[in-house]
Amino acid sequence: MRTQVGIIGAGPAGLLLSHLLHLRGISSVVLERRSREYVERRVRAGVLEQGTVDTLVEAGVGERMLREGLPHHGIELRYGGAGHRIAFEKLVPGRSITVYGQQEVVKDLIAARLAAGGDLRFEVEDVVVHDVDTEQPYLTFGDERLDCDIIAGCDGFHGVSRPSIPEGVLTIYERDYPFAWLGILARVAPSSEELIYARNERGFALHSMRTPAISRFYLQVPPDARLDDWPDERIWSELKARLETVPGFELATGEILERGITPMRSFVAEPMQYGRLYLAGDAAHIVPPTGAKGLNLAVADVRVLTEALAAYFKDGTTELLEAYSQTCLKRVWRAQHFSYWMTTLLHTFDEDDAYARRLQLSYLDYVTSSEAAATTLAENYVGLPF
Ligand code: FAD
Ligand code: DHB
Repeated sequence: MRTQVGIIGAGPAGLLLSHLLHLRGISSVVLERRSREYVERRVRAGVLEQGTVDTLVEAGVGERMLREGLPHHGIELRYGGAGHRIAFEKLVPGRSITVYGQQEVVKDLIAARLAAGGDLRFEVEDVVVHDVDTEQPYLTFGDERLDCDIIAGCDGFHGVSRPSIPEGVLTIYERDYPFAWLGILARVAPSSEELIYARNERGFALHSMRTPAISRFYLQVPPDARLDDWPDERIWSELKARLETVPGFELATGEILERGITPMRSFVAEPMQYGRLYLAGDAAHIVPPTGAKGLNLAVADVRVLTEALAAYFKDGTTELLEAYSQTCLKRVWRAQHFSYWMTTLLHTFDEDDAYARRLQLSYLDYVTSSEAAATTLAENYVGLPF
């Protein structure tokens, strides 16, 4: 088998890349380890930046998102017994976010690829990357072989592409945080119209949503927390304790439909390329989810890679491909800083002393009272222009 671009991974990065390449007349094959049902059900991120929404709409895969997604023009920071709104419409006019589940984006992209006759292989085993430092790279999986001009590693943080790069090529920058997030999806109407990011002495809590009838919540938990330690009653009582801190706010509870624990990590591998292997999305970098940037960065990488591959396959020019890593890393590092900053602003760190906690509160007061500081938060949150 032969294709122009062999793509490993059918997450948002791999699927969007395959779709955008198709629009440019470039062929690809997507190899995914999991089943279609599995990737379509995997609950993860939910906040789409303006640029991500625009990208999906321009690519013709935004129709359901525009219909069912929830546009938001602000978020609430809740701490010290009060809520403070960060008003996007005032601070960054014309820019907003859309709340639409990542797995809905994945479903829309899979449907679009299949409708166009795209080659998506699910449940493939043992994908191995070969000869990316030559002009004839190829992938093997099961007992098949796929020859490619270019390979795109879109296989997430635990994939095979990044580890296939020889030792000594990549520089790794990373930071672990001393907590994790317990996330749940619940059958209950949201108790707030906008997202609430709550800083609390008991730990951080986030109230998000998916639809007018489905809510999404996250709790800061110890890094070694296990789901067995968190029966439903404990989850709801902890969410209430951390969110019901302003007069008149009552959290509605309901059936928990899905739950999971995510470690918190910052990670960047540089460069995002080796020979004819290009890394995109979580395969190259991870952010803690507090800034809602992971999925949006994957989309930004894929936009850059599509332009570079289009120039390469159309004119044989390699300038954009050579600049790929550097171009992406500018945005990646901005998002790294923003995600780190939001995380340290809103979580409790066991090692923090009283002084550190006062600094954190002082910064929160600044962000919620100074238009300049609030604009910094808002313009990063809705996403910087491409
Ligand atoms: P992924 O979505 O990870 O897709 C990679 C794909 O490659 C997967 O389908 C995987 O099955 C496949 N794959 C892996 N290895 C192989 C292999 N060897 N062969 C073939 N296929 C392979 N971001 C937020 O903004 N907010 C959140 O709440 C949030 N929650 C998250 C929860 C979890 C558990 C995780 C892991 C991430 C979360 N993120 C969140 C981050 C966000 O979901 C990711 O940044 C986004 O999924 C990145 O997309 P991607 O396509 O690069 O990688
Ligand atoms: C969601 C996830 C995030 O990481 C975030 O910062 C905001 C919302 C969500 O899943 O809805």
